[in-house]
Amino acid sequence: MAVRQNIHLKCPGGWINDPNGFIYYKGKYHLFYQYFPYAPQWGRMHWGHAVSDDLAHWEHVGVALYPSKYNDADGCFSGSAVEHNGKLYLYYTGIRYDKQDPENTNLGLEQKLTASQMMIVSEDGIHFDNVKDKRTIIEPIKDKQIGDLRDTRDPKVWRGKDAWYMILGSTWELKAGRFLFYTSTDLEHWEFVNMVQGDDALGIMWECPDYYEVNGEQAIVFSPIDIACFNGKGENHAICMPVTFDEAKCEITLSKDYQFFDYGMDLYAPQSTTDAQGRRIEAAWLRMPESPDGEWIGMFCIPRVTEVIGGHFYFRVHPDVDKLFARKIMSPAEASSDGYKISADLPEEGWINIGGYRIFRKDRTICTDRSRVYRNHTECRCSFSTPDLKDGFHIDVYVDANMIEVYVNQGEYVITNGVYDLKQTVEAGPGVDMVMYTLEQNL
Ligand code: FRU
Repeated sequence: MAVRQNIHLKCPGGWINDPNGFIYYKGKYHLFYQYFPYAPQWGRMHWGHAVSDDLAHWEHVGVALYPSKYNDADGCFSGSAVEHNGKLYLYYTGIRYDKQDPENTNLGLEQKLTASQMMIVSEDGIHFDNVKDKRTIIEPIKDKQIGDLRDTRDPKVWRGKDAWYMILGSTWELKAGRFLFYTSTDLEHWEFVNMVQGDDALGIMWECPDYYEVNGEQAIVFSPIDIACFNGKGENHAICMPVTFDEAKCEITLSKDYQFFDYGMDLYAPQSTTDAQGRRIEAAWLRMPESPDGEWIGMFCIPRVTEVIGGHFYFRVHPDVDKLFARKIMSPAEASSDGYKISADLPEEGWINIGGYRIFRKDRTICTDRSRVYRNHTECRCSFSTPDLKDGFHIDVYVDANMIEVYVNQGEYVITNGVYDLKQTVEAGPGVDMVMYTLEQNL
């Protein structure tokens, strides 16, 4: 199937949201995604499926999951993958709308739906028998003390010391976020172990939780709905924090402080896995308000390598992707249509302007301003900045026609934003030395 070429993974046509089932399996990266194939708008969810050898060249291999059972008749929501005895296990949330919208049966009315947790097993990671190999593993939750009937979803499964573990995002009456923990010894039978609830400063519902260990630290990344505003950010954003997690009790202790996964306005629902070398890597969805051409909408950021050092999360472009930006160029006119990269150090008052997208230094922060390249979507045209920086004012900027990722100080912070109608120009303020690279070869 045709790939919409460039460095950011997009769906072949239609709608994409969260990354799902991200895994390095039998020598290849598999990245599934929330997918509505029929139009560039959200609707009854499927899982699209892309495969890659190097995290840069992706091949779309079709729809892996589609509604086929009573419990997922209205959608296969987000989830994750693990490998066991050579087989690929996918876990996801099955959705039934309480009432379909009669004018658009791909949607439910009044956000009323029922959620179950489901799984499917594949022998080879390519063929998924949606009729034979799916089953419900956690029935809709009726006990409010445990979780919410509607808003409990996004199973992330991992292997612990003595068992398999699952974390789910949930809510207490849409007033506070919750995590639910289950364990299993055989990947098929799951037992509820614990529920952990946050306070309202951390949003009203927690989506897409991802627990992992990296550099010997325990960490969590999740996407709270309605997280309290900070640094000009509102609405829903992914956050990360070091935690302690006690496997025996499934007791997680959250930190008071958190970092945003990204300091732009559009990145959501990151999901991690480990790469061929065992590094922790992440994919995430970039939300877009409109399709650039009426055919597709949304995309993924470049896969990032995560490290936690002294409690701080660093996100770097995966080296296998970064190394492709090896051909020096003098202007974006010479760049491959797959994208280009600009590296620079910003002195005080330093700035660069990429086709109308401004990146500039303000005191000890790096700021971005997309107000000239965001069409009429006024609600989020504003500027976004990092917190005060410790490690200098270096930027590596990855540009494609509809997304700009600014990595500050080798990933101390990242600012990613969607853009439209970018001009093919780059200018820099006095004292800014910049170097521009593009891909050695088109993808
Ligand atoms: C996050 C999310 C998930 C859900 C999926 C549905 O963007 O709302 O919680 O599983 O998208 O598409």
